[in-house]
Amino acid sequence: MALRAISFAWLLATSKATAQTTPTLDWLARNIQRVESVREVKDVTRTFSQLAQFGRWSDIAALFTDNGVVRVGNITADHLLAQGTETIESWLRTDNKDMDGLRAGSLSTFLADQPVVSLSGDGLSAKARWLVLRLQGDGSGGTRIQGGVFENEYANVGGRWKISLLHYYPQFDGNYTGGWGNTGTGRRTLPIIPYHYTPDSAGIPIVLPTTAAEPPASKATAEELAARIQRLNDEDEVRNLQHTYGFYVDRKMWSDAVDLFAPDAVITTDGSRFGGSVRKFLEQMGPENLTQGILNDHNLFDTIVYVDPSGKEATTRGIEMAMLGNTQTRAASWEFSVFRNRFVKDPDTNLWKIAALDTTHLVVANYTSGWGHGGINPLKTYPSPPPFLSITTRGSPSSSPSTKNSSSLPLSELTRRLSRSAAFDSAESISGAYGYYADDIRCQFFADLHHSRGHKESPGVGYYSTPTRIAQACLSRYSTFDPAPQRPRVPYHWRPQPVVLVSHDARSVTYRARLLQFGTGNETQGGFNGVNGFNGAVYHDQMVIENKNGTLLWKLWSLTIDEFYWSSVSWKDGWAAANPRPPSNSTAIPAPTGLAKDYPPDLLLSDPAFGDRELGLDGGKPPLTVWPDIRRLWWEFRNPVSGRLPEWYAPGCAPCKARPDWALQVNGYQEPPTGPSLVSVTKEEGGVVVSVKAGPGKTSTRLWEAHDTVSGQMLWHRASNLLVRVLQRM
Ligand SMILES: *[C@@H]1O[C@H](CO)[C@@H](O)[C@H](O)[C@H]1NC(C)=O
Ligand SMILES: *[C@@H]1O[C@H](CO)[C@@H](O)[C@H](O)[C@H]1NC(C)=O
Ligand SMILES: *[C@@H]1O[C@H](CO)[C@@H](O)[C@H](O)[C@H]1NC(C)=O
Ligand SMILES: *[C@@H]1O[C@H](CO)[C@@H](O)[C@H](O)[C@H]1NC(C)=O
Ligand SMILES: *[C@@H]1O[C@H](CO)[C@@H](O)[C@H](O)[C@H]1NC(C)=O
Ligand SMILES: *[C@@H]1O[C@H](CO)[C@@H](O)[C@H](O)[C@H]1NC(C)=O
Ligand SMILES: *[C@@H]1O[C@H](CO)[C@@H](O)[C@H](O)[C@H]1NC(C)=O
Ligand SMILES: *[C@@H]1O[C@H](CO)[C@@H](O)[C@H](O)[C@H]1NC(C)=O
Repeated sequence: MALRAISFAWLLATSKATAQTTPTLDWLARNIQRVESVREVKDVTRTFSQLAQFGRWSDIAALFTDNGVVRVGNITADHLLAQGTETIESWLRTDNKDMDGLRAGSLSTFLADQPVVSLSGDGLSAKARWLVLRLQGDGSGGTRIQGGVFENEYANVGGRWKISLLHYYPQFDGNYTGGWGNTGTGRRTLPIIPYHYTPDSAGIPIVLPTTAAEPPASKATAEELAARIQRLNDEDEVRNLQHTYGFYVDRKMWSDAVDLFAPDAVITTDGSRFGGSVRKFLEQMGPENLTQGILNDHNLFDTIVYVDPSGKEATTRGIEMAMLGNTQTRAASWEFSVFRNRFVKDPDTNLWKIAALDTTHLVVANYTSGWGHGGINPLKTYPSPPPFLSITTRGSPSSSPSTKNSSSLPLSELTRRLSRSAAFDSAESISGAYGYYADDIRCQFFADLHHSRGHKESPGVGYYSTPTRIAQACLSRYSTFDPAPQRPRVPYHWRPQPVVLVSHDARSVTYRARLLQFGTGNETQGGFNGVNGFNGAVYHDQMVIENKNGTLLWKLWSLTIDEFYWSSVSWKDGWAAANPRPPSNSTAIPAPTGLAKDYPPDLLLSDPAFGDRELGLDGGKPPLTVWPDIRRLWWEFRNPVSGRLPEWYAPGCAPCKARPDWALQVNGYQEPPTGPSLVSVTKEEGGVVVSVKAGPGKTSTRLWEAHDTVSGQMLWHRASNLLVRVLQRM
């Protein structure tokens, strides 16, 4: 008998409604619009970045409102640089000059990621903060490196989102050979760029409560609304899949990566189709797994997801910046590319899979010589852009057959599904808010982003629980909390490429993000502990909705940073210049010093109760593993398609093995699913065996007797009910 699998998302259809309120159709329509709005605001900015790769200045100008404004400057002297689409276009042309991604060998990378989006109460305007990194070259030796912060404003104009204010605060600039440092005369100090949000407002849920002002009357039918929600849910799954694929590639986890593909997947690189299997394609990057000194990071930025109205196909498009190297040969390189991948929904399992990978390289450059001359084998003509994705179709009618039946779902169930997508965006905002406060070492602010019983890791030391202790630990370490300091250095905590797992009840989230760290300082070369070069790490977080005195707010529950699995020796020497440590230097058990002694944490990383979770990490179980040795990388989820377990699997909150009382479930929250729930149905003697796999220790098998096996439909129904029960125990 056929082996079938069903996805978690499908299964939710059969579960009982959980919301206590009684939403109306109008209420639901308004809230769908709000979630769609937040996503379009992000996509407008991502489109800006994607267009900039190809010098499409007039198309970028068209992303602005008619009287849109560009302001560039610092908080003491701010310049209105352009107003109106024509002036904005000419400003972009002048600002980018020959580094436009149009002429041969030029490079025009204008990354903006880590959005904190705040939508106004009436849903007609929005503000968003982004971290910006610009890497440019003119093809004839000229280079620029610069970046800073966007604090932008957006307006809904006739149903479409536009940028009404691009407020760019440059914080650093320089070039490839000289490195970069703080902007401004003498490269002295940098002010804090004002935040448009507070630790509480960053977490305001996007979905308004039923008690909010009366929503406008909607003409939409329940069926149309159900289809739009389905599309948002699909978008989340596809984005997670794209980002997970990226994380597997970094580690050359080829078996896991291969599991993500549909049969007969098509792989195209720079216009030519790869003839062999997916695994063969991946093995062109080297054999499975990393060995000492190999760096294979493919950072993904500005991912836009387009879900086809059929609900059966989707496309992702974004910017890939690969940082590759080998410390043994000292080879190191950059690759700047466009990815545009196609996904299909497997009709048997309802799980998304990769159907086509399509990568277009723009500049591939040797680290030593840089990208100024267009890199290795510079392109004679700049390629035409892989088609951009439409970002304005979320609210349009869908013909998804998979949602035909969902119109019969109760509104409370539709609300729950919508809330799961809204949770994705709320989590991204909290994640970003944390990143910016960490950049600015705003101890009290990032402490206040946490739940009143939340906990945070201080790297190399341990965990502090409650906002008061989190703030105090930060103050003890950095002794800085000045409302408006001028600081000589900024260490950026860039957290792109999230994989966001949302619980069944949409009240908790498990969040993985990359940490791509770099910095700026008052000296261009290596000033900040080498942070003027790039370093890579991974965050493993959880977020929850907390009832703060009657107001529901998203807060950080658990924050873990597994710091640098690779790092640069300096900007000049890069990541491939690192030398292995002598083994004698790695075995000593670190005695509590500094912060651990001055302000002891609630849980030391060296606590034996961690088992191997902190093995090799700073402050954890020895021996210490330092790049170019390959650190363990932990996974909070199973393979999203096959359910395969990674070798280093740590579901739930990272310190929960040592502190079970910090687990979500012990604190009234659900643990988000760690991967697909696979149901298999096989015919056995005397009946039918239904087995449900939803993670380790979560397998449940039941034999139905022959008289029990009526129609397939009936069996299916039973299997999914069983699955609901299994999931409820998760
Ligand atoms: C701000 O910009 C003005 C004008 O460009 C410059 O004179 C000033 O030094 C800058 N201030 C800071 C704090 O960077
Ligand atoms: C690059 O930057 C360095 C340091 O700021 C400077 O000395 C050098 O002239 C710059 N090179 C070019 C080509 O602009
Ligand atoms: C990179 O460039 C340097 C200096 O031009 C050269 O010595 C080295 O061989 C190049 N490495 C690679 C991998 O091309
Ligand atoms: C969808 O609804 C139709 C008509 O009510 C029904 O025949 C069919 O079994 C339903 N499909 C699923 C998957 O529930
Ligand atoms: C950079 O800032 C540090 C700390 O304030 C200071 O000691 C150093 O002299 C500064 N360097 C320059 C070149 O201004
Ligand atoms: C909670 O709300 C009550 C009544 O609105 C108010 O008196 C109290 O100060 C609030 N407490 C906090 C911690 O905000
Ligand atoms: C040995 O470890 C210390 C402390 O972590 C570090 O400062 C030092 O650079 C290491 N030495 C070598 C040769 O790696
Ligand atoms: C790669 O590592 C995984 C465990 O993480 C292991 O199962 C697999 O066999 C390894 N592959 C190779 C080729 O060594």
